[in-house]
Amino acid sequence: MSGPLASPPRVRLRDGRAVPALGMGSWNLGQGRHPAAQEIEALRTGLALGMSLVDTAEMYGDGKSEQLIGQALHGVHKRPFLVSKVLPSHATARGIPRACDASLERLGVERLDLYLLHWRGGGPLEEVVAAFEKLRQAGKIADWGVSNFDVEDMEELWRVPGGERCLVNQVLYHVGSRGIEFDLLPWCRRHHVAVMAYSPLGSRALLGDATLARIGQAHGAAPTAVALAWAIRSGDVVAIPESGTPAHMRENAAGLALELTDADLAALDRAFPPPRRKQPLDVL
Ligand SMILES: NC(=O)c1ccc[n+]([C@@H]2O[C@H](COP(=O)([O-])OP(=O)(O)OC[C@H]3O[C@@H](n4cnc5c(N)ncnc54)[C@H](OP(=O)(O)O)[C@@H]3O)[C@@H](O)[C@H]2O)c1
Repeated sequence: MSGPLASPPRVRLRDGRAVPALGMGSWNLGQGRHPAAQEIEALRTGLALGMSLVDTAEMYGDGKSEQLIGQALHGVHKRPFLVSKVLPSHATARGIPRACDASLERLGVERLDLYLLHWRGGGPLEEVVAAFEKLRQAGKIADWGVSNFDVEDMEELWRVPGGERCLVNQVLYHVGSRGIEFDLLPWCRRHHVAVMAYSPLGSRALLGDATLARIGQAHGAAPTAVALAWAIRSGDVVAIPESGTPAHMRENAAGLALELTDADLAALDRAFPPPRRKQPLDVL
């Protein structure tokens, strides 16, 4: 990809905000896998190319990922949409505001755009929803959501007072793991909950795939750009690939502009058939 798109594709959330269809993950950032300066450059490259949403969590490197993101954002004129997550072990009435304050401090910001419960566990959902709502009213988070919730979990959440305020469900979704297409993705669409696809490159599992490579070659794009264009093809899913390598970030950002043809989609359906029955939610 040579330069930033004039208007990268966006996904409109139920609260009216529009976020870029491709954001950036950070699970392994800030922990020495690459030099910190390189990871910061990678994040800034992604921002410049329209991937202005950053996903993190207090769990990632025990706060080191949030710290690195804070450094990367230092002096950056236009702040990205920031998502962080609370661990289930902190997900109580007292634990949630404490964890949120610590994340804000590490990121060097006064407000999160989205705060997610990382996975089921912790206090009862009533307590989690009430604590998230308090944070929202206090202006520390703009909105909240969940992660790794299957249909049954979402239905339980919908029975909790205020549970239907949940804005996003972040789940594992990539061309090699399509189980959510059977029931969870339609459920989320019906209830106006945006799906955020984590590990959209299969946590590296898709990197050597021959079908993605062949399609990429025809478009003059990397296989990863094809995997990402596939993940965001419906216009209502946000994907959050991670990279600490600027050149990879550029390859991935090309997924924003890549339009897959019907023949490409059919080839991917043959290589990675969609689900025909309920599958338990895939998690990492
Ligand atoms: N909510 C949850 O429970 C949950 C669980 C897992 C992940 N997540 C989120 O989702 C994000 C992404 O998931 P993920 O980290 O599992 O996996 P991923 O984004 O599917 O894959 C990341 C891996 O692919 C490599 N990579 C990226 N672009 C590449 C390219 N163009 N060419 C070659 N290699 C490339 C990266 O290495 P380089 O750094 O060298 O590019 C990294 O090792 C996480 O960072 C996290 O924010 C959330």
